[in-house]
Amino acid sequence: MTAQIRLVEITDANRDAVIALRVHPAQEKFVASVETSFRHAQAYPDAKPWFRAVYDGDTPVAFVMLSWNLVPRPEWRGPYFLWRLLVDARFQGRGYGTAILDEVVRLIRADGATELITSYMPGEGCPEPFYRAYGFEPTGEIDAEGEPILALDLTGR
Ligand SMILES: CC(C)(COP(=O)(O)OP(=O)(O)OC[C@H]1O[C@@H](n2cnc3c(N)ncnc32)[C@H](O)[C@@H]1OP(=O)(O)O)[C@@H](O)C(=O)NCCC(=O)NCCS
Repeated sequence: MTAQIRLVEITDANRDAVIALRVHPAQEKFVASVETSFRHAQAYPDAKPWFRAVYDGDTPVAFVMLSWNLVPRPEWRGPYFLWRLLVDARFQGRGYGTAILDEVVRLIRADGATELITSYMPGEGCPEPFYRAYGFEPTGEIDAEGEPILALDLTGR
């Protein structure tokens, strides 16, 4: 069954609830927290940060942040880069991650995107199998932090 989600803007009314989202402690090395993501978004406006809280009904379950149509530089891939994706530990394994990718793909395709890029930190329990199962493929590049680059071709979707 496909998980039902909505992407919701973050305001003063829900910011604290979204910051409270947490991955498993062992996953913290794979993804920065929501709070750190907000700091990065503020520090790098040229990276065109776009972020949303993810809700199931009235419950925040996840956070997603993209670079939305940036002008690529050697250190910033794009134009559409999946920068952060985290599903709270309590809600993982229920199809939310897949549903979020479905919704992000729908939105960026409507904006003219032909591919979605991401990268991941390799290691035990890393999200690579999740991305590969969805259809992302390695480009063969490794970024300056040692993270392999993955790309999802949207032209056939
Ligand atoms: C990776 C993540 C976003 C997946 O979200 P999710 O809601 O748990 O994923 P889904 O329930 O949609 O899972 C889809 C499939 O991927 C698999 N999967 C999910 N996370 C996985 C992982 N870390 N390793 C291997 N497989 C994984 C699921 O088992 C499922 O497989 P199935 O369809 O055969 O049952 C989530 O586990 C997470 O937030 N992890 C910690 C943070 C992280 O690593 N984020 C990515 C940073 S780039």
